[in-house]
Amino acid sequence: MCGIVGAIAQRNVVPILLQGLQRLEYRGYDSAGLVVVNNQQLQRERSTGRVAKLSAISANISSHLGIAHTRWATHGVPSERNAHPHMSNNLIAVVHNGIIENYEAMRTRLTAQGYVFTSDTDSEVIAHLIHSHYARGNSLLVATQTALSELVGAYAIGVVAADNADQLICARKGSPLLLGVGIEENFIASDVSALLAVTKNVVYLEEGDVAEISLHGYRIFNARGEAVERPLHVSELSNESVELGEYRHYMQKEIHEQPQALADTLEGVCNSQSLIPGIFGAEAAASFAQVKSILILACGTSHHAGLVARYWLEEIAGIPCNVEIASEYRYRVSVANPDTLVVTISQSGETADTLAALNHAKETGHVHTLSICNVPESALVRLSKLRFLTRAGPEIGVASTKAFTTQLAALFLLTLLLAKQRGRLSVQQEQGHLHALRHLPSAAQAVLNLEPEIAKLAERFADKRHALFLGRGLHYPIALEGALKLKEISYIHAEAYPAGELKHGPLALVDKDMPVIAVAPNDALLEKLKSNLQEVRARGGELYVFADAGTRLQPSDGVHIMQMPEHAGYLSPILHTIALQLLAYYVALKKGTDVDKPRNLAKSVTVE
Ligand code: M6R
Repeated sequence: MCGIVGAIAQRNVVPILLQGLQRLEYRGYDSAGLVVVNNQQLQRERSTGRVAKLSAISANISSHLGIAHTRWATHGVPSERNAHPHMSNNLIAVVHNGIIENYEAMRTRLTAQGYVFTSDTDSEVIAHLIHSHYARGNSLLVATQTALSELVGAYAIGVVAADNADQLICARKGSPLLLGVGIEENFIASDVSALLAVTKNVVYLEEGDVAEISLHGYRIFNARGEAVERPLHVSELSNESVELGEYRHYMQKEIHEQPQALADTLEGVCNSQSLIPGIFGAEAAASFAQVKSILILACGTSHHAGLVARYWLEEIAGIPCNVEIASEYRYRVSVANPDTLVVTISQSGETADTLAALNHAKETGHVHTLSICNVPESALVRLSKLRFLTRAGPEIGVASTKAFTTQLAALFLLTLLLAKQRGRLSVQQEQGHLHALRHLPSAAQAVLNLEPEIAKLAERFADKRHALFLGRGLHYPIALEGALKLKEISYIHAEAYPAGELKHGPLALVDKDMPVIAVAPNDALLEKLKSNLQEVRARGGELYVFADAGTRLQPSDGVHIMQMPEHAGYLSPILHTIALQLLAYYVALKKGTDVDKPRNLAKSVTVE
């Protein structure tokens, strides 16, 4: 996790660094810091807490060269001494995102050489190691390259030296980093959103690249030290797209962006008369023809998307599907099946466990790989043979919302294509599904229109300490997702169960203080679910039922019904999710938690 920004310009770069950090705060927000080069000296400010605090203490600093960092603690508690940048002998300063695995050995070696460590982080070894090579007369570039060759682990780094006001060095391996190219000014950042106010021209560094950046240009060297060219991209993101606008929180904004995000994700598909595999990449048709099963690997919310997809894939496409949590799969001894399509799902495309799971799948012999991802240049996309880019736009709130529903849309398309390819989709059925997909954005908008009612319902939750979510079939993963959203941002302990499991244990938890939230679409399992809800009511549990058209559920004492406007068939999980996102959001609002930056979490989980 952690966010990095760096800049070299003729103007004062401090406001650029601070604004960039603010944009990157979603990557980590327990402490922040910056260092600038001025008159052969390093001037550093660090603070615990948010970037706003750093901005306040940096008001009087100015320089044309600097690097900055916002942290999500791994090694060492969140504290000022552990905040980046880390310095060596007031000469070298480094910001780092990633984990140095051999830092203990390095620390011992550097301590023996006389280096004094002032933090508990793994990152500080990078500063001292670079210093040790720089002090021997190497250029900053060579000192950095040599140091990196001795380090094991993942990193994106920015490096400056007090006696070199003309250069900024950066490198990446395992953590994202890009260059922002301006006119007589250049930048580095973990993510393009940090730089949109200054440039949209970006160069994505590749694994092992080291770059030397000056006012007038940049040079990139690959892991073997050879000078290389990397393509220049013009980011399609606008500065406004990463601003809050009229909303109170990014999460609220992103919940409301879902109709558009779904429309954008489905754009090419819904405008055509039939589905073509090419939307998953040039080689998709050939791969789809060969595969006989699906293995989905993902974490958190993205894993829930995979769980929904399993129902679709088996029922509509008739293809066996397994869904595994990436952090488990990566260490599990499993049997590879070369006829399996390995589908990884990730908003960020940089989740360490998902990347490792994909690599593990490949190493064990899987050959067909597809990633569904929201970030075009991410490591996950590059590692996969096939890809589908959701077009949710930047998701900044730590709680994933629009990324999830667009992942579901992508997975439904995958299902339809595999069904078609396997002769299980008639032309009429295909047209019917396309029609439903075209209607999806307006159906999502209709759910958003329930916001005031859901906000009112949420008021009843603010004093609760626990909550139980129930769903059945296709909507069991939606109950899981609803529970994850609630616990993540409101800190209310929430669990989800398939409603039929209640009587096998969790029913013991039910009493008047345990709100039970039921996802109740008008599907084949509705009558079964109604019986499960009776079991809850009979034990005094208070029910909050998210019903949809035709469910004929009536409110009564202890039974609150949220009536959703329509039943969307196979796409119903998408609509029910939106309602549960709103519920979690308003409960958190009522509780006064930090909705966009919940405690202990970060948006991109780039560590194990
Ligand atoms: O970027 P990814 O989709 O790979 O992230 C996976 C999870 O870390 C993520 O979905 C997490 O569970 C969300 N914060 C949940 O809202």
